[in-house]
Amino acid sequence: MKNLLVTGGCGFIGCNFIRYLFDAGNFTGRIINFDALTYAGNPLSLADVARREPERYVFVCGDIRDAAAVGNVFDEYDVDTVCHFAAESHVDRSIVRPDDFVQTNIVGTYQLLQAARERQSHIELFHHVSTDEVFGSLGADGFFTETTPYQPNSPYSASKAASDHLVRAFHHTYGLPVTVTNCSNNYGPCQFPEKLIPLILLNAREGKDLPVYGDGMNVRDWLYVGDHCEAIWRVMQKGRRGETYNVGGNNELPNLTVVHAICDELDRRLGPPPGHGTRRELIRFVKDRPGHDRRYAIDIAKIRGELGWTPRESFATGLARTIAWYLDNDAWVAQVRSGAYRDWIQAHYGV
Ligand code: NAD
Ligand code: DAU
Repeated sequence: MKNLLVTGGCGFIGCNFIRYLFDAGNFTGRIINFDALTYAGNPLSLADVARREPERYVFVCGDIRDAAAVGNVFDEYDVDTVCHFAAESHVDRSIVRPDDFVQTNIVGTYQLLQAARERQSHIELFHHVSTDEVFGSLGADGFFTETTPYQPNSPYSASKAASDHLVRAFHHTYGLPVTVTNCSNNYGPCQFPEKLIPLILLNAREGKDLPVYGDGMNVRDWLYVGDHCEAIWRVMQKGRRGETYNVGGNNELPNLTVVHAICDELDRRLGPPPGHGTRRELIRFVKDRPGHDRRYAIDIAKIRGELGWTPRESFATGLARTIAWYLDNDAWVAQVRSGAYRDWIQAHYGV
């Protein structure tokens, strides 16, 4: 792996993955970060990496839906390996406006696969980063395994399921060397504050209402983003080609428990919010998400057994690290929330 194309490297998991590869020290090649800088992408998340690694880190502003741009990046940088994160990733947005999800997650993935296939003799691996949501919703017990039938319920998960199938088909039909990971809910530094944990954390810090959908008893399995990055890298290095691996944190929690944990930790660090005895008083139960999946849980036996991966962080340690990061990084938060930041992106990158 000499020239690794990372798509969506300015998003939450992608930027943590690029940082992880440079920090872990066992990747010696060059990373080409190809990202369209949508609302969810922030090149400044990696500004220090860009300064530190001028020879080994390249940023290219481009769209995976654009076949010519994708082909050019493969050729110009002699790409031999792909790690594909770029996607529209937020379920609520997919319910309001599914079009971008179909175009980026399905058509965009197809363009990347096609570019890799056209240069197949040169391609070592195409790794596809996917989600546990492709499996649908669980009842009170049971776990998703790699053989659980696909049953996606939202436009987001349907588009990810379609992309998984395309990746699988390009392996089966054309012999493209691929691996796929299906992971549970991530949290950690640089997550856009529309997702549950950073949204609640920032609202709670500022004494704003904390919206909890439905009865707050939907269950998600939480994985610290650094653990996910390690799992992806393990699969890329040692995973069997053509295989999928489920990745999860063994941290199944109802949403309300997560929200309580954030409130309590902020009360402990900052004291109660103005006008309230505790941040839990800010919780508001709001209208449920349409088609809201009730429960996700992951069986990690395959990745643990074959590749020896298990998560390092507990929910308590991962949440403490995440809260500390958001409290210490006001400038990042202000940036991704501000219109001035979008103007800056427009001026620098024309998108
Ligand atoms: P994100 O929304 O934070 O980042 C997505 C990135 O992709 C952004 O930088 C954005 O600019 C870029 N992008 C979007 N459309 C693009 C396009 N057409 N061309 C090029 N770049 C484009 O997402 P994330 O949370 O970091 O998720 C990354 C991947 O991991 C996604 O494929 C997602 O489905 C998957 N995943 C996420 C989670 C999670 O909990 N966040 C869990 C499992 C799997
Ligand atoms: O399971 C993996 C998936 O996890 C990823 O594939 C997605 O990209 C990622 O966005 C995430 O999807 P969720 O829909 O589970 O994440 P979200 O943070 O949007 O919501 C988590 C839970 O919290 C979910 O049950 C809905 C609920 N929720 C969410 C928000 C934003 C609330 O109760 N209130 C909120 O304001």
